[in-house]
Amino acid sequence: MHLGVNIDHIATLRQARYVGDIDAHNAEPDVLAAAAICEKAGAKGITVHLRGDRRHIQDADVFRLRDQLTTKLNFEMGNSAEILAIALRVKPDDVCLVPENRAEVTTEGGLDVVGQFDALRATVDTLRANGIRVSMFIEPTIEQITASHLLGAEMVELHTGAFANAQGDAQAAELARLCEASDFAHVLGLQVNAGHGINYTNIALIRTVPHLVELNIGHSIVCRAVFTGLDAAVREMVAALP
Ligand code: PXP
Repeated sequence: MHLGVNIDHIATLRQARYVGDIDAHNAEPDVLAAAAICEKAGAKGITVHLRGDRRHIQDADVFRLRDQLTTKLNFEMGNSAEILAIALRVKPDDVCLVPENRAEVTTEGGLDVVGQFDALRATVDTLRANGIRVSMFIEPTIEQITASHLLGAEMVELHTGAFANAQGDAQAAELARLCEASDFAHVLGLQVNAGHGINYTNIALIRTVPHLVELNIGHSIVCRAVFTGLDAAVREMVAALP
């Protein structure tokens, strides 16, 4: 199983102060430096979501990551002509098609591949014709997996949000759903990835899902980094005082 680190939140932190001037001489944190640390620490890929509203990752970040990464770039995008045009210029290794809604705080559910089948077809065909592997970020259901397969996607990323938010018996039921979905996708020949809400606790259960190749994790890793790094960061500033 491989880890892809979603570094959107690194950009969120930068945008909180340097929106409009990511190249200011004092702009921080540096998204490229963060990606390099993730790769050095064992990540097998870097994931970013260029949203229509550009709330965190910016266009320039994506192009620079493409140039710098030594692992692979997994580019998450909604199905829009504007972002597709950028994807074709960036040429990431993988594109993960995700639902996107301006009002949401984060990606809330899986992409409705069944309901948007025709609208997604041209996008998937174009990406694949350009040598980009396509993944569909979907709820773990037979219908969504079947539709993703019919569209010609190479991969599915099973949305683990419902599992992550559930507890007890409800969580066991969500885990069973993920296992069944993964088995089904695997039989169809799809690469099975998973992501959303995976943390240092629930990873123990996620590990039991068969066939998973790649986990994309962001929020929990950035949160953990705050606490593993805060002590050293304060000490360094205290040491810099007169
Ligand atoms: N995978 C996809 C497709 C996502 O959109 C996201 C971010 O919402 C993630 C993985 C990472 O989720 P998290 O930040 O909860 O780890």
